[in-house]
Amino acid sequence: SAPEAPNGSKLRFTPIAPVNKDVDEFNVPEGYRWAPVIKWGDPLFDDSPEFDWNNQSVEAQIKQFGYNNDYTEIQEIPGSDGLRAVMFVNHEYTNANIMFPEDMPKHDQVAITMAAQGLTVVELERKDRKSPYTYVKGGKLNRRFLPDTEYELTGPAAGSEFVITKEDPEGRTILGTFANCSGGLTPWGTLLSGEENFHGYFRANENIQSNARLGIDSKESVYGFEGNDPRFNATEDGYENEVNRFGYVIEIDPWDPTSTPKKHSALGRFKHEGANVIIAENGHAVVYSGDDERFEYMYKFVSKKKYVEGDRAHNMKLLTEGDLYVARFTGNSPAAEIDGSGKTPADGQFDGTGEWLPLILDGKSQVEGMTVEEIAVNTRTAADKVGPTKMDRPEDVEPSHHSRKVYAALTNNSKRESNQVDEANPRAKNRDGQVLELDELGDQTSTEFAWNLLLVAGDPNGGDQTFYGNVDPKSVSPISCPDNLAFDSVGNLWISTDGAPSGIGYNDGLFRVTLEGDMRGNVEQFLSVPREAETCGPIVRDEDYSAFVSVQHPGEDGKFSEQHSFFPEYNQTGPRPTVVQVLAMWDEAEEPKPEPKP
Ligand code: FEO
Ligand code: CA
Ligand code: CA
Ligand code: CA
Repeated sequence: SAPEAPNGSKLRFTPIAPVNKDVDEFNVPEGYRWAPVIKWGDPLFDDSPEFDWNNQSVEAQIKQFGYNNDYTEIQEIPGSDGLRAVMFVNHEYTNANIMFPEDMPKHDQVAITMAAQGLTVVELERKDRKSPYTYVKGGKLNRRFLPDTEYELTGPAAGSEFVITKEDPEGRTILGTFANCSGGLTPWGTLLSGEENFHGYFRANENIQSNARLGIDSKESVYGFEGNDPRFNATEDGYENEVNRFGYVIEIDPWDPTSTPKKHSALGRFKHEGANVIIAENGHAVVYSGDDERFEYMYKFVSKKKYVEGDRAHNMKLLTEGDLYVARFTGNSPAAEIDGSGKTPADGQFDGTGEWLPLILDGKSQVEGMTVEEIAVNTRTAADKVGPTKMDRPEDVEPSHHSRKVYAALTNNSKRESNQVDEANPRAKNRDGQVLELDELGDQTSTEFAWNLLLVAGDPNGGDQTFYGNVDPKSVSPISCPDNLAFDSVGNLWISTDGAPSGIGYNDGLFRVTLEGDMRGNVEQFLSVPREAETCGPIVRDEDYSAFVSVQHPGEDGKFSEQHSFFPEYNQTGPRPTVVQVLAMWDEAEEPKPEPKP
């Protein structure tokens, strides 16, 4: 039996205890079990080879599930009685140190890692709602998005001088997507995905201001793609602008395997964690996106055109044109109370008001000295000029479709000094992060908002200054480094983490947070992932007594010959990044019964 869940959610569980960081286990609550849905290297198509640790090849990888699954979304296929679904997955990056035999030539390693990044669409099926999903090899919607997949660039940057290369003189067709971290499902059934740490993929001239602002330099890149494909060396003649063709929010249609995915420059170019859409009361599509780096900003896009229910072709163009804003937060407590320790101000809240500062309005630049094209490509520099608030690494920024409030995971910021704190970023050397709640004043397209911190994370039993809403911090599941956000069917917030092991010393996991009432701020841990993994892409299907997570980079500190993790097979091979489903154990225990109230 398990306690009642907030808001009457069917997903009742007794929180698991935090798991120490060296434990190589996937842990779930009593009465639940876990099952892999799909693993790195699993064959996707009828002619895909089986995965072979010792003989991985490009030819195999392009037909197999990619590496380091991050954002994940599942949509049921209409007319299938919930028994079939289509899943979308980002493959953010690769860990070459644990993927290949050490004697594999570098050129081959790079070629495989290029093919192991990008995206996957794959069909799922299940016997009934009580059974775990398995993926469908050869499913009609199955697709890999690879380094040579064509993307159409839309918005102000398209066709501009900043994106033309010798291979694309029109500046409208880009090959590949990389560093895709988080994302979001649109109301019209497409997926958005953020190109995040794309700076790690290029050599480029650091004397060009827009490169320097993104931390891109001419040294050898992290992934070494430039050794295999010259366009990743943007110091070369004709490729200078290749780097300006990454750093966007992309949109893909999982329902049409022949569709051309888009890169939407109207949403700006920076290290997009992800992007999430809500339709405003007045019909415009509003997109929130965080720029995940220390001291970077939060952004909002408002579509020029209105959403039209049922007109998919129209809605799929909404993100090509609109207004772009960046956020400024103003606290309401005296600065002296915000001392960098994370101590709660005397009014009992980290809170205040804020405004969305326009960068582009009605197709016109609102930034002195910059054109709309420049703002779309060099968005950080444009934002710098209007005075937004420097945040503690904005990860997911996601609206609740229940309350219309917007939640931002501010994951951490080791570099903030005590003279740089403010009420929204109240802690110096912020190891554990915070979660911000933003309430637009009036319509979702408003330029003014109220805000407060829902959580200031950390382990109070480990001596950290924390804030857990209305709840005694010592009674919650300690949480650190919030990264991805999701909501269950009744509006509870779920948070997955990335970085807890190096902070509070526990494995990362998935947590439920109560948002309303006396228990607002209560955090309950639902699962923990194996050593050195982060928890990504949570999907909560509480009506099916189930949740999904992407287990990314398990055992990433190991070497091929000396693995740090054997997840998920635990047969002395591995690790393999894996999408996992957690579900109630129907066979042993029927619907978990609530404990009687004392
Ligand atoms: Fe790829 Fe911001 O985490
Ligand atoms: Ca306050
Ligand atoms: Ca992330
Ligand atoms: Ca992260």
